[in-house]
Amino acid sequence: MIKVASVVGARPQIVKAAAFSRAVRGKFANKIKEFIIHSGQHYDHKLSQVFFEEMGIPEPDYNLQAGSASHAVQTANMLTRFEKVFSEISPDAVIVYGDTNSTIAAALAAAKEHIPVVHIEAGLRSFNKSMPEEINRITTDHCSTMLFTPTIGGMENLINEGFNPNNKAPYTIDNPGVFHCGDIMLDNSLYFASIASKHSKIIETYDLQENMFVLATIHRDYNTDNPERLKGLLYALAKIADTHKVVLPLHPRTEKYINLLDINVREDFFNHPGIVITPPLSFFDMIALEKSCKMIMTDSGVVQKEAYFFQKPVVILRTETEWTDIVKAGCGIITGSDPNKINEAFEYFLNKESLTFPPVFGDGSAAEFICETIIRHIR
Ligand code: UD1
Repeated sequence: MIKVASVVGARPQIVKAAAFSRAVRGKFANKIKEFIIHSGQHYDHKLSQVFFEEMGIPEPDYNLQAGSASHAVQTANMLTRFEKVFSEISPDAVIVYGDTNSTIAAALAAAKEHIPVVHIEAGLRSFNKSMPEEINRITTDHCSTMLFTPTIGGMENLINEGFNPNNKAPYTIDNPGVFHCGDIMLDNSLYFASIASKHSKIIETYDLQENMFVLATIHRDYNTDNPERLKGLLYALAKIADTHKVVLPLHPRTEKYINLLDINVREDFFNHPGIVITPPLSFFDMIALEKSCKMIMTDSGVVQKEAYFFQKPVVILRTETEWTDIVKAGCGIITGSDPNKINEAFEYFLNKESLTFPPVFGDGSAAEFICETIIRHIR
């Protein structure tokens, strides 16, 4: 039996871990034993526990309760706690997802203890090192023994950094195995799409009309922590709300920074009749909105992809994206926080007759491929 420690911490990782965990508990139950370790980076029920409940993920075996703090303090807290847990479990591999502070802390702690790191969602680059996630991605990839890329673009980035997809087993941190497997988030979106529609009441709750509203999310520190950018985004969303309802599930970070803006800016935004604010949403509610909306505006990586999975155009509220395939396919436009660019992109997609969505994220069987590859090569 191969013992793996799966590390989650922030909301999107819990979603990704659901797909891996489902595969382990299903087809691979007699070959892989999984321990789930929650760093505690996200602790609010709506950012964490609700995903475990809806997606049927087993309760974490450990919760490190690292909580919120500056990047250095948060990462340091996790690093020491991961080291302790890894020494208790002695896993054959540590599985890390994505690019958060939980990812890098676990990868570093494992690599220093010579435990093979398996990075799911490897190879993505925004080429903007002022993003904490970019530092986390690059460092995690270079601490890993097995790397799984969700897109061909991810594989090309790894090759450009010196990774060799022709490396032969046995894999080590110095001779890592690099595999393209498609996007593990697609596994979940396909699996949960019909279940979500049955369980979610969000469309009725907020009295929304199919294809008549825009779904928006904002949470990146680059956008939230800069008052000018945040104001630009709120202004742009309010202008769109003059003609189409804009549904904005509010991340705690964003709420905190909106509350620091001038009172008239806040009131203009919150009192606009077309702006619909919701608390952070469960996975099922989010999927239900993504499936029903006209288009999506977001600075989230995950939501950009989910837009694509559900064949909706996406306005990317950042100055670059790791998910360049979406832009190349003509289904995403990068606008940053500039209200004019956001409005132009909105009008463009509103008037665009049809879009095509080539299958750049694989076929929804990434988790199985990852499990099979781990079984073949770990130990
Ligand atoms: C983190 C990830 C980001 C990911 C996002 C998903 C890093 C560097 N960033 O960003 O890549 O897209 O998660 O949501 O790891 N807070 C709460 N309740 C919580 C957690 C946080 O209120 O349960 C508040 C705190 O004030 C905290 C702030 O949100 O300071 C930011 O949380 P943090 O986990 O540091 O980063 P995110 O912005 O969520």
